[in-house]
Amino acid sequence: MGMSNDASEKKSKKTMAMGDRAILPEGARTIPIYIMGKKFEVPETLTIMKAMEYAGFQFMRGCGCRGGICGACSTVYRKPDDYKLQVGLACQTVVEPDMYLTQMPFFPANRASYRLEDLEGKPEEIFKLYPEVFRCVACNACTKACPMDVKVLDYVSAVKQGNIAKAAQISFDCVQCGLCASRCVGELPQYHFAQLARRMYGKIIAPKSKHLEKRVKEIESGKYGEILKKLTRMDQNELEKLYIEREREPDTSTPGEWMPEEKEYL
Ligand code: FES
Repeated sequence: MGMSNDASEKKSKKTMAMGDRAILPEGARTIPIYIMGKKFEVPETLTIMKAMEYAGFQFMRGCGCRGGICGACSTVYRKPDDYKLQVGLACQTVVEPDMYLTQMPFFPANRASYRLEDLEGKPEEIFKLYPEVFRCVACNACTKACPMDVKVLDYVSAVKQGNIAKAAQISFDCVQCGLCASRCVGELPQYHFAQLARRMYGKIIAPKSKHLEKRVKEIESGKYGEILKKLTRMDQNELEKLYIEREREPDTSTPGEWMPEEKEYL
């Protein structure tokens, strides 16, 4: 939803950005940006997402975590006198003068249907579900488009070589925004098969963690039932007190050496 330039001029005099709790620094300058072809004046300190809200837009879709994790806020933009199409996450990218932007809340890319329980963690299973992986021409447009600096082409190559563990590791920071697929000349859904590689690695290939298995058994046996009941009966003040007074690992302790005094629930 847009608003008039007059209204946006009035808004630029406010000291607090609409839709978030960021208090603008004293004397923050405003700069012009173009949102979906229309000019707005916004404080130069804001991210694209906050600037859009400042300008009067409301996010009904295309906004999730606001913390660079969910990948829902893909944005494409151009800067003046620069031929290159830029990409970024609206919740992380700070506005620049005269940037010309639009939001891409979703990119349609084929997603295979599977049940992880039915898979054995073999590369052939990825090839069968995503045969288009072999359409990659190694142009590297995907890597250039990634706002998380994931080496997309490298994990695509790892998948083609059948190295699921490597593909899972390289794609670990992927936020599923779909910008790689949006620039791919081979029409690959890179982020979907990378997610499958990570799922296969986590569930089937990676060595099982013994302490996690032990803890799951303890939970299932009801070891934490009583304490959970007690916690859910506490009011906010009691919970806050408990939280503030909890034992905490000192920042300076050697990793793996610190143990709390209270060991009942370890
Ligand atoms: S809103 Fe989740 S990554 Fe931007």
